[in-house]
Amino acid sequence: MTMTILFVDDELPLQRVINLKFKKKIRAKEWEFVFAQNGVEALAKIKEYPQISMVITDINMPEMDGLTLLGELPSIDSNLKAIVLSAYSDMRNIRTAMNLGAFDFVTKPIDFQDLEVTINRTLEYVEQIQDNQKKLHHAQAQLISSEKMATLGQLVAGVAHEINNPLTFIVGNLDLAEEYVTDLIHHLQLYQKQFEHPGAAIKENEGAIDLNFLLEDLPQIMIIMREGTELISQISTSLRVLARSDTQVRVAFNIHEGIDSSLMILKHRLKANEQHPDIEVIKEYGELPLVKCYPGQLNQVFMNLIANAIDALEESNKGYSFAEIKTNPNKITIHTEVLENNTGVVIRIKDNGIGMSAELQQQVFQPFFTTKAVGKGTGLGLSITRQLVEEKHGGKLRCISSPGMGTEFVVEIPIN
Ligand SMILES: Nc1ncnc2c1ncn2[C@@H]1O[C@H](COP(=O)(O)OP(=O)(O)O)[C@@H](O)[C@H]1O
Ligand SMILES: [Mg+2]
Repeated sequence: MTMTILFVDDELPLQRVINLKFKKKIRAKEWEFVFAQNGVEALAKIKEYPQISMVITDINMPEMDGLTLLGELPSIDSNLKAIVLSAYSDMRNIRTAMNLGAFDFVTKPIDFQDLEVTINRTLEYVEQIQDNQKKLHHAQAQLISSEKMATLGQLVAGVAHEINNPLTFIVGNLDLAEEYVTDLIHHLQLYQKQFEHPGAAIKENEGAIDLNFLLEDLPQIMIIMREGTELISQISTSLRVLARSDTQVRVAFNIHEGIDSSLMILKHRLKANEQHPDIEVIKEYGELPLVKCYPGQLNQVFMNLIANAIDALEESNKGYSFAEIKTNPNKITIHTEVLENNTGVVIRIKDNGIGMSAELQQQVFQPFFTTKAVGKGTGLGLSITRQLVEEKHGGKLRCISSPGMGTEFVVEIPIN
């Protein structure tokens, strides 16, 4: 990785000397220098090049001196370390610089060997800090997600189980109720045939309850109620599939069942509302074998990717009317296939939402990176997804996207 070093000095010829003295490192792409001539310019460069790892600064410069610049650095990035350049006689400034948090100093006129050693030491330190920070974020993300998933998993499995009991009462008795209703209707029809003039009270009641409509409607109602219970039972099955996070052993799993369960859980977000028509879900399922995996974790992967796709579609809908969206509908395409050499399966989840720039794509897998409003995004979805796919399953996660053209996430999971 190339380390970027900001060199701040108002003596212009120094820039050439630096490039010359360190040309080996620069050619090998180990180091890269960015130059500024005073503190104000330096701050602008830090904004322009966020990859800058360290600063080397002179003290006496016009507009903003090195000491003032040093004072500004911590508020921009506390990891940014600085080396100050100063005449040996200038002990006072060197002390002040060190007290302001400078990492080290090099005396002027510059001894380039000493400068190289000092830069190396500083960069090593910076790298170590960055490395530690990455590990910390990783661990934090893992903790949060595993804890959340464990509690959520238990809750969901419990609820699914509790729903099932009363559901069996209804489903079991619906069969009987349907039978009884048919029998009763038949019986009533027999009466009507036998007794064409049943008397005024019965005739009057017939009108009051609109008997003909009732007889027509009742079987329909039974059908709708049955559909309702089927839906509840599907949801309950989906919840149990989703909650199945048997992290101990790999089991043979039907990937399509996992995707369908995730879709079922996200159904309320796919349905039309005041802002948008239904989000079209296009399933291009191939013939997949059962895959040995951790089903709970893969389900989490599908949930994360589909939820992100929905977010991206909602974002792309902003500023468009319901009718306009209808002519260019929101779509999520889910494509599955077996890899050519039969070693793995591929799941592609594609949306026609806002898409991502190349720059954004570089950042989205970092823990806690989000472009969503506070409370909406956690920035953990993709970092966890990558961890689950690559570390837990030895698979691959890729992203194909450009702004305005939608996004496709490609998940590859080895079959064994
Ligand atoms: N399908 C997508 N289309 C466009 N941007 C996406 C998509 N998926 C993820 N992103 C971007 O990646 C960021 C990180 O995603 P994620 O890690 O799931 O966190 P969160 O969804 O909480 O923001 C999102 O904030 C968004 O900017
Ligand atoms: Mg997300």
